[in-house]
Amino acid sequence: MRRTIEWIDGHVDVVDQTALPQQRRVALHTVNEVVDAIHRLVVRGAPALGAMGALGVALAAARSADQGYDPEAVRTDARRIAAARPTAAHLKWAVQQVLPAVAHGPAAVLDAAAALVEADVRACATLSRLGAALLRSYVGDRPMVLHTHCNAGALACVEWGTALGIVRALHADSLISMVVVGETRPLLQGSRITAFELAQLGVPHQIMIDAAGPGLIASGQVDAVIVGADRIAANYDVVNKVGTYPLALAAARAGIPFVVAAPTATLDPDTPTGAEVTIEYRDPDEVLLVGGWRMAPAESTAFNPAFDVTPADLVTAIVTESRVIEPSRVTESAGGVQPVTVPAMRLVGAY
Ligand code: MRU
Repeated sequence: MRRTIEWIDGHVDVVDQTALPQQRRVALHTVNEVVDAIHRLVVRGAPALGAMGALGVALAAARSADQGYDPEAVRTDARRIAAARPTAAHLKWAVQQVLPAVAHGPAAVLDAAAALVEADVRACATLSRLGAALLRSYVGDRPMVLHTHCNAGALACVEWGTALGIVRALHADSLISMVVVGETRPLLQGSRITAFELAQLGVPHQIMIDAAGPGLIASGQVDAVIVGADRIAANYDVVNKVGTYPLALAAARAGIPFVVAAPTATLDPDTPTGAEVTIEYRDPDEVLLVGGWRMAPAESTAFNPAFDVTPADLVTAIVTESRVIEPSRVTESAGGVQPVTVPAMRLVGAY
């Protein structure tokens, strides 16, 4: 399979994730096209946003060089790219990683971006192996039923994936009996993208509506929940696709592991708790319209947060490429269970 994001002959070539499961790639030649692709979720998923951010700055530098190189103009473009989506830690982080190279010209920026992309590929491969070993230790060496949400596969990264990378590693050892995929309303990253990846890999899977997940977990038919993350606060609160938190509650109640797989770049030491993370609120029409048809009265509006926050005390383990963190053990060893911060969800519009 080709990588989700590639640099080809002076432009960025990406899988159009709004079209999946139809397979289409688009070429991005300008910073405006990059920002638009990030807004519209043509490129999405936290690590993929990091790769896009870094290569976006390389693109800004290349376009600037077409007209006589202006580092200040490249820095201005970089700020626009970094601000294109607010929640995932990776986008801003990756832009910051390549910014020092801007002073040295377009080739230096491209080198820095390419190094970041390769590091992401290595991180995902390593954390997938670590995560597979962890799940075997939690569940046992037998085929398991895992529940996932949204898409944390190769398409959310550069290749391989995080939560689905772990699924791939377990599948290679015949240790997956079923992956339950929440469809992930409203934009269906689960049914359109995760199911597409699992089908391509030959992994047994079943899609269900998001509301069915907690009930299935309560029925005792799921061995573990495994998801990616868009940002992890310093206290290990996990920000991920809206609908993750109910799965974590259900997993805690059922006594099964809730595992988060994410490269180290997802950990944000500057954000103390999940309550301080900026949650992206998207267009209400994503909720109100299905396939272009309005499914609600003309007078109705909708609340459309793209992410929610799972408090650290519900997280069994966070698997990165370098370590496994078990947040509840961390807080316990720090002297008793810490108070859990509840994120402020802001209703939008007139109520
Ligand atoms: O809005 P999206 O599709 O960018 O949201 C993506 C998710 O929430 C993923 O679960 C998360 O980025 C983990 S990706 C490895």
